[in-house]
Amino acid sequence: MIRKPVVFITGANGEIGHGLITKLAADGGRRIVTLDLTRLDSALASRVEREFTGSILDTALLERILAEFEIDLVFHLAALLSTRAEFTPLAAHRVNVEGTLLLLEFAQKEGESHGRPVTVVYPSSIAAYGLPDLDTRARADRVREDQYARPTTMYGCNKLYCEQLGRYYARHYKQLTVGAFTGRVDFRAVRFPGLISATTLPSGGTSDYAPEMIHAAARGEAYECFVRPDARIPFMVMPDAVNALLTLAHVPRDRLTQTTYNVAAFNPSADEIRSIVAHAFPNAQITYRVDAKRQTIIDSWPADVDDSAARRDWDFAPQYSFHRAFDEYLIPTIRGQVSGVRGK
Ligand code: SER
Repeated sequence: MIRKPVVFITGANGEIGHGLITKLAADGGRRIVTLDLTRLDSALASRVEREFTGSILDTALLERILAEFEIDLVFHLAALLSTRAEFTPLAAHRVNVEGTLLLLEFAQKEGESHGRPVTVVYPSSIAAYGLPDLDTRARADRVREDQYARPTTMYGCNKLYCEQLGRYYARHYKQLTVGAFTGRVDFRAVRFPGLISATTLPSGGTSDYAPEMIHAAARGEAYECFVRPDARIPFMVMPDAVNALLTLAHVPRDRLTQTTYNVAAFNPSADEIRSIVAHAFPNAQITYRVDAKRQTIIDSWPADVDDSAARRDWDFAPQYSFHRAFDEYLIPTIRGQVSGVRGK
């Protein structure tokens, strides 16, 4: 039986999954198979060929998916984010690390069985960094992938390690064993900054203050920002994040000089975000109630990253600057949804 290759997405019902499935389905041409702990939202379910509900740690389920479909591209999105992971570090390690190990093993077997590499695209994170103190952070400027990689969160440790694990599978897997085992997994990772979507809210992250502020203002709800007004990290909007994943997935392998790439689009302070949101939604009630511990996590992440390797190797070029993101994507899309809901 000739099986048509499919795209496999884990953690598909999460925030990136929503953006990615919507775009992949709109582009057409690829059949999508998903795995998530929860059922896909109905808007997504109709766009995929097959939906599996279950855990990334369920090896029997992974075997079943492997037996049924020929997979040539994986977006491994399943993860517990940085704030959530600090409350349940063991569970985070299980999902974020053991889950990724099983997924890489799954991709390896899949690659061995159909004789072509399986591309695994992995969203790593700015949380992989750990700047030691505020002075160093102020001096650090735009941080490269190989600098300050000493994360202080469980999530950051998990992401940094899985970047290495992916590189191992791609380049050194079973290096002492006779036989052609290496090169069956084509692992490619992006270190995302904070992500902001007009249509969904993240859950359990530390960069969540930006999207929460925007969505609360749009709904007419008061919002207490949990970081200081001068807190500054890079962000990008979901359409640019999805484009980055899809571009990286399809660039010819010989153009890639590394397995992990920084990407980012703009890096406003929390107060610059508050100000643009207040301008768009004049009734916004945004105040500050700083959570010192979550602030410490933000302070350990760089104020900006150097994404020149991604720009050079695979032409990464985000479409949305800070102002364009608000004027042409966030505000019109959110207003459309709010008025759409009101109109019903
Ligand atoms: N947005 C993520 C978090 O805050 C960072 O990858 O955990």
